[in-house]
Amino acid sequence: MQIVKPAEQVDMARNKRLLNRYRFIEYETIRILAAWLPATARMEYKLALGRFLWEEAQHVQHLYQRLRKVQTPAFRPPGDPALEELMAEAIHAPDERSLLAGLFRVIKPALLEAYRWHSRQTFANPDAPTLYALKHIVLDEEEHVAWARREFAGQPTGDWERYIAELLAYAGGVTGDEPRAEKPAGPDARSPFSSPMTAARDDRFIILERHWGDAETRRKTDEAARRLDEFENYSQEMLAAETVALIIHLSPDMPWGFVYDSARHCYDETRHCLLGIEWLWRHGLDYTTVPQNTRIYAWRSQYDPSTQYCLLTRGNEAHAFPHRRRSLEQYEAAGDRLSAQYVSYDMADERQHVAYGTKWLPELMARNSIDMPVEQFIEETVALWRREYLSGHLPLRSESEAAS
Ligand SMILES: [Fe+2]
Ligand SMILES: [Fe+2]
Repeated sequence: MQIVKPAEQVDMARNKRLLNRYRFIEYETIRILAAWLPATARMEYKLALGRFLWEEAQHVQHLYQRLRKVQTPAFRPPGDPALEELMAEAIHAPDERSLLAGLFRVIKPALLEAYRWHSRQTFANPDAPTLYALKHIVLDEEEHVAWARREFAGQPTGDWERYIAELLAYAGGVTGDEPRAEKPAGPDARSPFSSPMTAARDDRFIILERHWGDAETRRKTDEAARRLDEFENYSQEMLAAETVALIIHLSPDMPWGFVYDSARHCYDETRHCLLGIEWLWRHGLDYTTVPQNTRIYAWRSQYDPSTQYCLLTRGNEAHAFPHRRRSLEQYEAAGDRLSAQYVSYDMADERQHVAYGTKWLPELMARNSIDMPVEQFIEETVALWRREYLSGHLPLRSESEAAS
């Protein structure tokens, strides 16, 4: 009997072990990026984070779809405390540039290399679905790595980045198969992460430290002013992305489907923000001159994740349609195709966001021990939204406590 010795190094058991490691790294990266999105000040990074975390969600989805064919349950911890430690530590970066350097200049290049090696070493035909997944993931990861190479070209390797590299070596690299280094000690720069209750902005922006002002009195009566107001508001939709990101961060036990939808929700809001930025730019205006009402984020962040989610999806998002429809009519009547297109795409996204709210609110309530009928919760939360947001008051508990 002839025995053929295959050259392929990734057999089925190793394949599963590796796919679990990749899935874990990609998933934890989503959680870290979401946690840091509100805490990151530079607007260009925030916009990039929105896209990255959605693309990471596509990677997890690809890996999940493959893993569920070969193991039950599909989501499993990697079974390697050193790898878990790497991803648990990666969030405690001293600042946003160090964080991104650790993730995008250390972990991602190693991941990319593992994906390429894996693609050459698995049994091509029997494992074709893995090859398909990796081929598409690699496209994104190459872009992510190239982004960081450009963005941090002049940034020398710092203590934090070195620490992440040492932790990766301690875990035996992405595959766990490299010789393992000693466990490194955390550098002095390590800064324990805490949930961001305020939304950071870089120093180009003016921050509105006051209340929103009554929404209706803010509405301009002439059409040009109303249109400008609408797109200036779009350029501030990072606030919605930041709330969704915070909800992801605060909800580690929600099912994968929620994280997947929320990654899209978050990405959409960063795109709406960019849509406002682009509109202003095409009209010769600079978005950094638009004051940022970060008080809205601070106000929402005071509440538990299910209330925040309900305020956003059933308050703001569900109530935006009459205004947007009026805008669309106005832009179409004026032959303003650019504005009409932008609003049309926004409305398509927002319909989905309201649907996400309906889909996930019951489960989010259950995880936050809110024991009341969902309809009653929505009614009470929308009443809260009217009282505190629509009125323009945006009360902050920290202020009322300081005053008393
Ligand atoms: Fe939006
Ligand atoms: Fe939205």
